[in-house]
Amino acid sequence: MNNWSIQYLYPTQVYCAKVENFDSIQDEIQGVIEKSTFDYFSGFGQTHKLSQHFGPSDSSYLMGDLPIFNKELQTHIERYGKELKYYNNEYQVVNSWMTLFEKGDYAHIHDHKDTDYSGVYYFCKEPKAKDFFFESPVVGAKASAPYFGARIYPPTETGHLMLFPGWLPHGVDRIATDGQRYSLSFNIEFQKIDPDLPVIKCHIK
Ligand SMILES: [Fe+2]
Repeated sequence: MNNWSIQYLYPTQVYCAKVENFDSIQDEIQGVIEKSTFDYFSGFGQTHKLSQHFGPSDSSYLMGDLPIFNKELQTHIERYGKELKYYNNEYQVVNSWMTLFEKGDYAHIHDHKDTDYSGVYYFCKEPKAKDFFFESPVVGAKASAPYFGARIYPPTETGHLMLFPGWLPHGVDRIATDGQRYSLSFNIEFQKIDPDLPVIKCHIK
């Protein structure tokens, strides 16, 4: 038996799953896409297009149009919370929007500040395209090569859902393939309750 060990003190838990109710969720999101408008957001420059739900000018609650997705999301949040041993049983989807990437588009490295969970669901993505990445959340990690995890490309395919802490830096490399990639992004809070938004009750045990 060793008389030494390595302690993994600050791992980052990222949740990746395929949705179970795929066909119904796809139909539901297709309906949202058909009545959405997509454009570059002035604050980001000509990087990628966002639906009108992004930003303060549109107050509509996108998740209100996605009851099937919302129901499925709840089961993933329950599973993620159980793994994290975080047993808070009320949460809110505080904002959500659709994103459109086309050839040449990209996303700067960014984070979602102090939001509890950020999430993304891939409505359609080119097969085998690997361009969404995370970077180390450790400040100064780049200065110490042995500790820098560099960029990590998680599995992101059509029908995949991912949940991660809002502070985790991420970005998208410039898209090299033709086509239109739609995804649904959202932020979730457990304690910073907004009285104007629905509270979703779940059951984590
Ligand atoms: Fe993001």
